[in-house]
Amino acid sequence: MPELRRIVIELLGQLGSSREARQYLKQFSRVEESRFAVVKVGGAVMRDDLEELAAALAFLHRLGLTPIVLHGAGPQLDEAMHEAGVPVEKREGLRVTTEEVMAVARPVIYRSNASLVDALEARGVRARGIQHGVFNASLVDPEKLGLVGEIASVELEPVQSAISGGALPVVACLGESPSGQVMNINADIAARELVWAVKPHKVIFLTGTGGLLDHRGRIISAISLVNDYEHLLAQDWVHSGMRLKLKQIRDMLEQLPGDASVSITSAGKLTRELFTHTGAGTLIRRGERIEHYDRIPEKRLDDLVSLLQSSFGRKLRPDWLQHRRVSALLMAESGRAAALLVEGLDGLPYLDKFVVTPEAQGEGLGAALWQAVRQHCPALYWRARSANPIASWYFQQAHATCRRGEWVVYSIGITDQQRHARLIDDAFDRDSGWMEEGEPNEQ
Ligand code: ARG
Repeated sequence: MPELRRIVIELLGQLGSSREARQYLKQFSRVEESRFAVVKVGGAVMRDDLEELAAALAFLHRLGLTPIVLHGAGPQLDEAMHEAGVPVEKREGLRVTTEEVMAVARPVIYRSNASLVDALEARGVRARGIQHGVFNASLVDPEKLGLVGEIASVELEPVQSAISGGALPVVACLGESPSGQVMNINADIAARELVWAVKPHKVIFLTGTGGLLDHRGRIISAISLVNDYEHLLAQDWVHSGMRLKLKQIRDMLEQLPGDASVSITSAGKLTRELFTHTGAGTLIRRGERIEHYDRIPEKRLDDLVSLLQSSFGRKLRPDWLQHRRVSALLMAESGRAAALLVEGLDGLPYLDKFVVTPEAQGEGLGAALWQAVRQHCPALYWRARSANPIASWYFQQAHATCRRGEWVVYSIGITDQQRHARLIDDAFDRDSGWMEEGEPNEQ
């Protein structure tokens, strides 16, 4: 392995585990070079975080990855128009582009494009600015919108030629008619069309906020469209901009292979987002369904056992199931997350096993599984060792907890005090099913 690549992998390891970093590097290197990622950079990031952006992209290039960069220049354009005394007018989210506006816009877009190319080249990374020749367009509505273009087709040749020449393609949001009339293309639309043409493994949106925010202003780590989309759109705090973004992303992902994903992050967090399981930003995938079974079907038993054994790093006794009255198994299609519920005290569900691979956690499968458990059981209880890595998360979810030595019993929805006392005893007495006791993350 070339020295540089080795050093870089070591460095990546410091972000998380180097195994994680290697795994993602392998995943990203497996796809065709030009299909690793389309990175859409908002105009505000081009203006405010150019150096950080160039550093993050240069880093990917050193790892042998070639993202296709597409950038907007909205805020720069607003500023330039303000200076030139040309009023900014938008209709249905599109910038009305008169000849006068285009005269201001074109140099601004060229300059913004060149600023990123220059910043990359200053870091020793070959980059090629592509301002024309990618988006074949026709006028949307010349009367109302002026020179706003609608994309008729995408020409990837200029992008491919940059990549095969070892340069990072940096594409601007301009289109042309067959005779060469230059048109202004909305950056979100350009991103969508470019993504559909390239069919990349990752679509990355670099924004100032670095992710989608929940009602408390915190970044939502992962969204699975099959499990969360309807639920999210029904929330009153999901404002119209976010709604539109979610819809656009859903449309985008529908046309891509099932393992493709969208990451919304910031320039400074891009490396962490790409090379760790937990990431830094919002990861959106089509996701997978959580299947409900009222007993363990034969065809899923092997999957369940191997998921449990490899995640907890120990063996189950051959008779482990004989001691359980299974009431439900909730399991992700891929078999990377599962919750096993058994009949507990007074028929209450006891959460016997809850397991999610680290990678699937980064995809939000743990949260989706938990949601399914909660939908299935208004009340439940479970136990885990206090040293369990997700103990603090369990504490957050539980309504009541009780600690005895290294064990903690958690419960939800149980109000009767006496019953609570009895189920704590019951939980402490339960058989774990493992060969021998003593692992810290046992459940
Ligand atoms: N590194 C992986 C990827 O980029 C997982 C990222 C997880 N990110 C998140 N925000 N949950 O595909």
